Amino acid sequence: MFLYLFSFKEGMTMKTERLIMSGARENSESLLKEMSEALKLSADNPYLFVRTGLIAKLFFYKELYEIIVSVPGSIVEVGSWFGQTSVLFENIRAIIEPFNYSRKIVSFDTFDGYNETSGLNIGSQEILKYKVEDNWIDLLEKIQDAHKSINSSASIFHNIKGDIRDTIPKYLEENCEPIALVYYDIATYETLKFTFNTVLPYISKGGVFVFDDYGYQYQGVNQFIIEQGIHKKYQLIHSKYYKSKVYLVVT
Ligand SMILES: C[S@@+](CC[C@H](N)C(=O)[O-])C[C@H]1O[C@@H](n2cnc3c(N)ncnc32)[C@H](O)[C@@H]1O
Repeated sequence: MFLYLFSFKEGMTMKTERLIMSGARENSESLLKEMSEALKLSADNPYLFVRTGLIAKLFFYKELYEIIVSVPGSIVEVGSWFGQTSVLFENIRAIIEPFNYSRKIVSFDTFDGYNETSGLNIGSQEILKYKVEDNWIDLLEKIQDAHKSINSSASIFHNIKGDIRDTIPKYLEENCEPIALVYYDIATYETLKFTFNTVLPYISKGGVFVFDDYGYQYQGVNQFIIEQGIHKKYQLIHSKYYKSKVYLVVT
C-alpha cells in the first residue's frame, strides 16, 4: 500500500519502513499529524496535511478510471481494509461518468487482517494493523451511503467479508457479470494466484488488473508474475504517477 524499504537477511522477518523515511521526514510527518489532530479544522481543509504518496494514489485511481471509462463491468477491490478505495472510486465515478448507473463497487476483505502471508515477509505488527473493528461494515455502509447521497448516485456497493478464496467464487457464482477493474492489494502469493485465475474469465476486454504492490520487496507478487509468465502474456505498465503500482490491460 505504501512505499516501503525492506531491510532483511534471508530467513529473517523483514522490517518495513517507508522508502524515503529520513529522520527529518519522520519528524515532519509527525508534526503534520499532531497539527491536524490539534487544530480540528473543518473537513474542507484536508490537503493542508495530506502527504504526496496519498495524492499520487488518488492520481493513480484517476489514471485507472480513465482506462475503464468505456469498459462495462464492476470495480472490484481485493483487500480493501477500511474500504477507502470504494469511496474514492465512487467519487471519481461521480465526476467522470455521473450518469453511468451500472457500476457496482465491490470490496473484499476478511475485515480481520491476514489469514496467510505466503511470499509476504512482513512483521506481525504490520499484519495486526489490518484488523478492523467488528461492526466496521455497518460504519462503512453509512459512509458509502452519505457519499452516494451527496453525489445523487445509484452506485451499488457490496462489502464482502471473509477469506477471498471462499468469498470470490461465491460472489461470482451469485453475480455472473463482467468486471472492468480488479484492484488487487493483498500481496501474498497464494491469494494473488487464486484471485487472478478466478477473476480473469470475468474481466471485460479492455479491463484492468492492478498489482498494488510491485517491486523487489514483494516476493510473492514477483514469483506469481514469473511462474505464470504474466510479463510475457501481457504488457505490464507502471502507473504514470506511482511507480510501485503496476497494471495490465486484458486484451
Ligand atoms: C494492504 S491491505 C489493503 C489496503 C487497502 N487496499 C487500502 O488501500 O486502504 C491488505 C488487506 O488484505 C486483507 N486480506 C489479507 N488476506 C486476505 C484474505 N485471504 N482474504 C481476504 N482479505 C485478506 C487484509 O485484511 C488487509 O485489510
